[in-house]
Amino acid sequence: MSLFRKKSVDVIIKEAAEGLGDGHGSGEMKRILTTRDLTFMGIAAIVGAGIFSTIGGASYAGGPGIILLFLFVSVACGFSALCYAEFASMVPVSGSAYTYSYVAFGEIIAWIIGWDLLMEYAIGNIAVAISWSDYFTSLVNHIHIGSYALHVPEYLCTDYWTAKGQASEEARLAWANAPAIGKFKLICDLPAFLITVLITRIIYIGIKESKRSTNAMVVLKLGIIVLVMVAGAFYVDTKNWSPFLPHGIRGVLSGTAAVFFSYIGFDAISTTAEECKNPQRDLPRAMFYSLIICTIVFVAIALVLTGMVSYDKLNVGDPLAFVFGNIQSKFAHTLAIIISVGAVIATASVLLVFQLGQPRIWMSMSRDGLLPPVFAKMHPKYKTPSFSTILTGVVVGVPALFLNLDEVVNLTSVGTLFAFVLVCGGIVKFHNDKNRPQSKFKTPYISGKWAVPVLFIAAAYLLWTFNHESVVNFFTSGDKIGPVMRISVSEKVPYIGFGLLFFITAVLSFINKYSLIPIMGFLCCTYLLSESGTTNWQRFLLWLLVGLSIYFLYGYKNSKLGLKMKAAMLKSSTV
Ligand code: ALA
Repeated sequence: MSLFRKKSVDVIIKEAAEGLGDGHGSGEMKRILTTRDLTFMGIAAIVGAGIFSTIGGASYAGGPGIILLFLFVSVACGFSALCYAEFASMVPVSGSAYTYSYVAFGEIIAWIIGWDLLMEYAIGNIAVAISWSDYFTSLVNHIHIGSYALHVPEYLCTDYWTAKGQASEEARLAWANAPAIGKFKLICDLPAFLITVLITRIIYIGIKESKRSTNAMVVLKLGIIVLVMVAGAFYVDTKNWSPFLPHGIRGVLSGTAAVFFSYIGFDAISTTAEECKNPQRDLPRAMFYSLIICTIVFVAIALVLTGMVSYDKLNVGDPLAFVFGNIQSKFAHTLAIIISVGAVIATASVLLVFQLGQPRIWMSMSRDGLLPPVFAKMHPKYKTPSFSTILTGVVVGVPALFLNLDEVVNLTSVGTLFAFVLVCGGIVKFHNDKNRPQSKFKTPYISGKWAVPVLFIAAAYLLWTFNHESVVNFFTSGDKIGPVMRISVSEKVPYIGFGLLFFITAVLSFINKYSLIPIMGFLCCTYLLSESGTTNWQRFLLWLLVGLSIYFLYGYKNSKLGLKMKAAMLKSSTV
């Protein structure tokens, strides 16, 4: 079916080199990134708003046991990273999961993923920009020049809806003091907009400048994080680790979107494939190095954080600074300020990597004809995709003025998990295909023939044995599946969907001897998706519907592959 028309790896690499045939190909991009640069870029993308901000709410809900979720998510990301690495080594061009899906599943799925990646990169960056603004304004508000204390007015660093809700003192002040035109109050998050403009400017100028800024920011933020770990260890009171699971495993799982958000980013470096010296070797290495380093850092930080104060005090937007600010010592207060500086730098570097990634995905989609040619246009002097870079700035900067952090974090995690699921699915498919394209890095093949069914049976047995009451409640009276979580009928759908999918995957693995590692990535990510909440699912599906409409209105008709196939058919029918 032509909706599933596929591109071969050879064609993709050739087209990337040629660009649009107007000299705007990857040959024009500068190949300067090494394993070290890419690892730094991975860390730059991963360590940000998640570990500095959203970890607070997740620890509050889950208690010290949140480290279990950090470990589980790192395993899910590890499996996915192996699949990303195999694809990146097989198709070393800028489009990331979009391009990989074009090879594995065909055009329409590729479009869906390209559209979906907007959620990871652009919407994710809206969240990061908002979080940057939170730390930045709290830092500015600490500065005193003589007797004058700097202060950013609340209505200039809050979003409209949060202010309108007036749930906090800051929101109340924003609402009360905002200037108004008629009934409409002028409330926006100006710093979030300004940082996006600044970062967009750096990226517009060039990859070299982006690389330098990233490396410097990573060194600084890792230094500050190590300082938090070492200094924090002295203030840990092991009594705070008990109870370990105050709200049971459901409490831990309610932090899924926030914890997963922390890990997003290792995949983003695959978008720089055309600017790497040796993408097939360096991209897989850099993904693993950055993921391993970040997992160690995250688990250590989660332990320190929940060890320093009781988990029930951690529901704040700046938890790392908060735990030190709580200690009555000048040293700890100085540390709190240093941490805020670290957070400002860390989140800025995440912004940078994702602002860099989005235009490169659009560039790939435009080369394929699924977006207009202007999306792939290179700046004649800076050699960067100029139009796409500016558009990304607008798409991130303007909504960052008005949107709420939690909503965008949830949406980002759902969108990214969906991309991971398809990338893992693509590798499962390739491992069963004798004619699959060559790649220098291969995920080791371990047969899932027995392993996946055994896992399914073991999971079902454990669930029944240790969570008998919840399972019975789920299927009967059905509104309670744990000590703290009530669940409505519509919220059950994703869990039931996951159970069915797990069962079908187990059966298919038995029949087709699916490769275990990508299957584990697929299952872990679909499970995390099922934990992401029905409202987010609904919004995500709506997003996909909008994307599909655009595809049928523009991409389907203008697809280069589609046009080529049409021309070939015409030729053969006239012969
Ligand atoms: N992992 C990135 C962050 O936490 C998205 O900011």
